[in-house]
Amino acid sequence: MSEQVTAIVLAAGAGTRMKSRRAKVLHEVAGRSMIEHALQAVAGVGAQRTVAVVGHQREQVTEAVSTAHPEVLLAVQEEQRGTGHAVAIALDALDGAIDGRVEGTVLVTYADVPLLTGETLTTLVAEHRDAGRAVTILSSEVADPRGYGRILRDADGAVTAIREDRDATEAERAVSEINSGILAVDAAFLARAVRSLDSGNAQGELYLTDIVSAAVGEGLPVGAHVLEDVWQTEGVNDRAQLARLGRELNRRLVAHWMAEGVTVVDPATTWIDSMVSIGADTTIHPGTQLLGATSIGEGATIGPDTTLVNLEVGDDASVVRTHATDAVIGAGATVGPFSYLRPGTVLEAGAKVGAFVEVKNSTIGEGAKVPHLSYVGDADVGEGANVGAGTIFANYDGETKHRSRIGRHARTASNNTFVAPVEVGDGAFTGAGATIREDVPPGALAVSAGPQRTMGGWVARKRPGSASAEAAERAAGQSEPSDGAAPGE
Ligand code: UD1
Ligand code: CA
Repeated sequence: MSEQVTAIVLAAGAGTRMKSRRAKVLHEVAGRSMIEHALQAVAGVGAQRTVAVVGHQREQVTEAVSTAHPEVLLAVQEEQRGTGHAVAIALDALDGAIDGRVEGTVLVTYADVPLLTGETLTTLVAEHRDAGRAVTILSSEVADPRGYGRILRDADGAVTAIREDRDATEAERAVSEINSGILAVDAAFLARAVRSLDSGNAQGELYLTDIVSAAVGEGLPVGAHVLEDVWQTEGVNDRAQLARLGRELNRRLVAHWMAEGVTVVDPATTWIDSMVSIGADTTIHPGTQLLGATSIGEGATIGPDTTLVNLEVGDDASVVRTHATDAVIGAGATVGPFSYLRPGTVLEAGAKVGAFVEVKNSTIGEGAKVPHLSYVGDADVGEGANVGAGTIFANYDGETKHRSRIGRHARTASNNTFVAPVEVGDGAFTGAGATIREDVPPGALAVSAGPQRTMGGWVARKRPGSASAEAAERAAGQSEPSDGAAPGE
């Protein structure tokens, strides 16, 4: 028997109940579209060829599939005349695309069952082959079988047919073993069987499920693989199911990472996308979302209340109450609380971005610090530098963005404005409140505020009788003579 596997992913249905401009199968679960989940599961079987059958909103679906999986063949089903019709169209597309006939096993699956795994499909195909069957259905026992096709068995328990809910008798409806719709089928038999389907049923459709009774009629062996894990066969038709399956997949992903040595303080409020990876001994605090292609090293501390999208976080880093997208946080770096890292931010090892700091398209060098209340846009801060509290990198002149550079081990003071493009040399200092418009050479001190003018007795003259004047007068009585100088610091 040929070892070939050809996968057919059905994705032509309308998804009406989603009430969405977006095609149903492009809605995401754990950060990945449902059709991506399906193609991922199919990839796990090692199928030589995969065909996706598209119909409703097919421009969007085609675009998404051909971008992410150019190897997948697309077949268009103009009119949705049933699952049997969809499979026939997939086979026609294959005929046109390959030399010779489709051989071995055909695996039919749906694009809207996001929890289905590659392992389950692999088991299904292996059982199908080992048993030498014409058809093997993936079935499951469910508490509420309404709406599903039922698996009918004879007195010996052998599968005889699948009966659609709408075509079933009262007795057949009582059967709790349902057809997931996913099945493995001998290619030669399938090619023959789909051509003899008819639409004499309650929905006037070509039912793929009718190939089961056809095989039985030909005396060919058929069977069902009963899947205990019913979540894997559950489809998404509306947004409530999307959320329900999303929560369950998340529960599984969180459990997976805990088994890998990650501490998750509160699994219920921790969301981990399917592409995320996390090193052992990392602790995730409540209210944390790790999204997209985020990867976290070992021994890191993330959260509480943190959202990381496509982040690369090094070992032993700490990221607290932070929102960050498309950024790199080096090993041992500390971020937060209340930090905002925007695309293109790179924190090198041991760097610090503190409270109420926003960083965009900038590099904070090894061990450099931006501890408080600052905006760092389009800048490179050298290793070991310290950027004072309340600093703004004025990167935008109203038309163009410009870059600035702070040198290694520079010390820039509080409340500075760096008017880009500008450069502060290695080891240079700046004064408090400076507006730096011109480059500062290495080792220099730059101050830009004018000398302080202090007018003694101004309050007594200009605000006589005020509480301030009285306080000043009392202070003058305690320490003669008063020149109004500010206390030292
Ligand atoms: C189908 C099965 C039913 C099974 C159920 C599991 C048939 C006749 N019935 O029923 O036994 O219990 O799935 O969910 O197969 N699709 C197309 N083109 C079409 C029709 C459907 O691509 O012309 C796709 C849909 O996008 C969907 C899948 O096939 O991904 C199933 O279609 P759906 O209409 O949901 O099938 P059901 O009637 O629910
Ligand atoms: Ca369905």
